[in-house]
Amino acid sequence: MNGIISIVPRMNFSFNTFLSTIALTSCALFAQAGDIKIKITKQYLNFPISHKVDRKVMKMAVNGQEERKFNIRLADGEPEYWVFSDVSEFKGKTITLSYDGDESSLKQIYQDDKIAGQDSIYQEFNRPQFHFTTRRGWVNDPNGLIFYEGEYHLFYQHNPYEREWENMSWGHAVSKDLIHWEELPVALHPDEIGTMFSGSAVIDYNNTSGWGKPDKPAMVASYTAETGERQVQCMAYSLDNGRTWTKYANNPVIDSKEKWNSRDTRDPKIIWHEPTKHWVMVLNERDGQSIYTSTDLKDWKYESHTTGFWECPELFELAVDGDENNKKWVMYGASNTYMIGSFDGKKFTPESGKHQLGTGTIYAAQTFSNIPESDGRRIQIGWGRVAHPGMPFNGMFLLPTELTLKKTNNGVRLYSEPVAEVEKLFTSVKKWTKLKSDDANKELKPFDDAKQLRIRTTFTLSHATDAGLNLFGQRIVRYDMNHNTINGVFYSPEDMTSMSLTADIYIDNTSIEVFIDGGRYSYSMERKPDKNNKEGFHFFGNNIDVDSLEVFEAKSIWKK
Ligand code: FRU
Repeated sequence: MNGIISIVPRMNFSFNTFLSTIALTSCALFAQAGDIKIKITKQYLNFPISHKVDRKVMKMAVNGQEERKFNIRLADGEPEYWVFSDVSEFKGKTITLSYDGDESSLKQIYQDDKIAGQDSIYQEFNRPQFHFTTRRGWVNDPNGLIFYEGEYHLFYQHNPYEREWENMSWGHAVSKDLIHWEELPVALHPDEIGTMFSGSAVIDYNNTSGWGKPDKPAMVASYTAETGERQVQCMAYSLDNGRTWTKYANNPVIDSKEKWNSRDTRDPKIIWHEPTKHWVMVLNERDGQSIYTSTDLKDWKYESHTTGFWECPELFELAVDGDENNKKWVMYGASNTYMIGSFDGKKFTPESGKHQLGTGTIYAAQTFSNIPESDGRRIQIGWGRVAHPGMPFNGMFLLPTELTLKKTNNGVRLYSEPVAEVEKLFTSVKKWTKLKSDDANKELKPFDDAKQLRIRTTFTLSHATDAGLNLFGQRIVRYDMNHNTINGVFYSPEDMTSMSLTADIYIDNTSIEVFIDGGRYSYSMERKPDKNNKEGFHFFGNNIDVDSLEVFEAKSIWKK
């Protein structure tokens, strides 16, 4: 243990604590809150976690000033796993940790230049190998997705201190290719206003906010602070490519609880609207997406509201079939349902919808800001609500996908397919054409136990009304042509008389993502093999034709 200077018992003299202390001492040994002081000389503080212990408040202060405050289940004995906090910003200073739980648990905390368990990170048995996950703790929504100076930034809802939702902060990872990610220190910690809920990021090129410098535009994050009693919208900016952040001194910039008679006002998504030359914020308020406008990112004016969405708004413009003279706006919410319409900078007018883009584990997806015009793609990342039993982390991010608008027989629709960069991760190992399903099943045998794999297949139903592909009893694809459903969700192919279906299937340790007919529909699921099923890959359905089948090996995105 490095650097622990002293442990000082600390009594809370509130009457309630006094009463509960009396109650506790009658049945257990006297456990009391305490403080420790640590002179920071290393990068990380490592904390032992046990889910048998209730959450208690931990405060981290420097020179009497509270820097961080979080709830933590500090293990009082053998930890189930360890979490960490990057404290490099306090190097050379003495911090005080004050804990409201059993003070003896403080003894196990230690500082080090390594995360406890570092040597096995990314090699744990349930660690996804081509999806981003955090080293320790919980993740949910992607936040502040932005490309800037050669880096893609993935900020995200994060509890660094436990594998369950709590202490919402903005975690941070960067990538040069959308595939290989490096996790950086937490970008936004909870503060005196509240915990850090979801939001977005922009680059203020014209320095409308005044937060930039002549040679450096500000990266500006907008986020919701959950105060415990209401949700308010706040701003922060960074002048060092998202590494460190300054919160706006006059936060919050929007407090609309009274107007909506609702606490649910959250998840600001900001875009620059070039024709009207102002900022637009899409904000989820009670029952839909509100539009606010601003010329300086500080002063926001309410403009309009589109009902029918919940959480995590998105609003972007796309060319239909790549035709720059025919553009449409897309609005969506957390569940990946969307409307297509027009937008004049103040009001979204729906023309069609709602439609469903993806289903399954996907939630709270967001698209990247500031993608260079020369690239022009609309790139989405969604949260994969996938459990990771036995792991010191939980949740994951789905593959980045490119969204496009295409004319279909049913009207204009959004498509979603993995970005081209994803191809780099997969090497074709075998390809077959024109197989009967029994032969296809034999060919797939050697791949039954692969921990990661991609399979692309086109199959045709003829006598069957219900057909697809299983993996150890789990239905990866089930096409029911009678009810027109794929895994239970209505689906009609572009040629409505078609009996064929193409599925591009990405299998990772804990998840399966499936893209149907070039991204016309996609879905994801937890990977849950039936332990009693010995079948492995198995095409089912009466007499189906496997027109093509291709198997790809997957590379890991992590350096071992
Ligand atoms: C969606 C959501 C957001 C909120 C965040 C809190 O999953 O509920 O609306 O900002 O998660 O973590």
